[in-house]
Amino acid sequence: MKLWSGRFGKETDALVNDFNASISFDQRLYREDIRGSLAHADMLRACGILSQEDADAISEGLLGILADVEAGKITFTPDNEDIHMNVEALLTKRIGQAGKRLHTARSRNDQVALDFRMYVRGEIPTLLSQLMELETVLCRQAKRYQTAVMPGYTHLQRAQPISFAQHLMAYAAMFRRDAGRLEDCAARLNECPLGSGALAGTTYPIDRFMTAQALSFDAPMSNSLDGVSDRDYALELMSTLSILMMHLSRFSEEIILWCSWEFKFIELDDAYATGSSIMPQKKNPDVAELVRGKTGRVYGDLMSLLTVMKGLPLAYNKDMQEDKEPVFDAIDTVEMCLPVFAAMLDTMTVRTDNMRAAAGRGFINATDCADYLTKKGMPFRDAYTAVGQLVAACTKSGKTLEDTTLEEFKAVSPLFEADVYDALNLENCMALRGSYGGPAVSETSRQIAEIEQFVLDHTK
Ligand code: ARG
Repeated sequence: MKLWSGRFGKETDALVNDFNASISFDQRLYREDIRGSLAHADMLRACGILSQEDADAISEGLLGILADVEAGKITFTPDNEDIHMNVEALLTKRIGQAGKRLHTARSRNDQVALDFRMYVRGEIPTLLSQLMELETVLCRQAKRYQTAVMPGYTHLQRAQPISFAQHLMAYAAMFRRDAGRLEDCAARLNECPLGSGALAGTTYPIDRFMTAQALSFDAPMSNSLDGVSDRDYALELMSTLSILMMHLSRFSEEIILWCSWEFKFIELDDAYATGSSIMPQKKNPDVAELVRGKTGRVYGDLMSLLTVMKGLPLAYNKDMQEDKEPVFDAIDTVEMCLPVFAAMLDTMTVRTDNMRAAAGRGFINATDCADYLTKKGMPFRDAYTAVGQLVAACTKSGKTLEDTTLEEFKAVSPLFEADVYDALNLENCMALRGSYGGPAVSETSRQIAEIEQFVLDHTK
């Protein structure tokens, strides 16, 4: 029999019963639900709305249910629709009359808003610590390859010399911002909706500040309609996770390119690659491909809740029950991707020989050649044109700039002297790019130290 059977003349249709129920997925919120109810009951007692005796019975009953759920002794039922009504029904079954008083001055609308908010808040530390582990792996790998020259690309065309460390630390900078966004989300969400009631607060003399404090919130939410209607925190989290996945996906794309025979800049550890069912030679970067693929799924989670919310009038609407699965899915997906991705990076072999060989072709020192002339007094635009002529000649003859003889250089400009070969040396070109944020070792060391400090500050 339904809780609301007093008002109804018929049993709920079996199809509606199943259609309406959310217990199959919201049972994940049992800890938050019980924690919220404990705080609510204690507040009701402190405000003289519930007797000490009833409050004690409720607390004891709820703790017993919590222990039994954790021990796997409880099967929830769709007949009680969701986690909130399942827990309440269990409580009343166990402790009788007192259980029926728990829902005084509360609605499932503020209850679900509270539970879900606490769940999202509770996952942020896990996501942050996984990000810190990834940052640690990036720093560890980057430290090994600060002098490993590789071609930096624009338009996927070889552009200028960088180090592999510089490339890795670019991702470290992105993940640092992701961590910052997670922290922003955690700070902004930390207001308590409990006590908003169904939508319009309550006539009971409740103390919303007390429950907010007991549940480690900074304050109660200021407006009861907003309290039950707001899902911004879920959207903020999924936006943050979408951006994070976009970073992982770009990185995955590069891993996939780098393991190809066309690049062979890295080799994945056998434990982090997969084979083919037909082609005996294959070693595939499935982990990176799946991370790239799962990015679409996390974007979908975000879009699905944005779309659910876009036309909803205030305050609660049942549509909002559709908020949970995308959020759970986005969190689960990211929490699965981050550790496997970090481990894949940690175990890869870096083929610095192939990176160096790739850097040797493609004229990635052409800018340095123009800079050489500019430093000798030629305006940069003229130097740029002169080096363009040299590159065109080299392309025709199949030579590199380094292969060009001093006579050939001088034919283009008398400013060229024997020291041009030092200026064209790729190790020098990379090492001399010491401008703030550049690939010179002094700068990659600074970047690594900054990220290491950031990780220290975020690790207790
Ligand atoms: N299962 C519901 C949800 O997840 C709980 C809130 C139900 N409130 C209501 N007025 N029907 O949104």
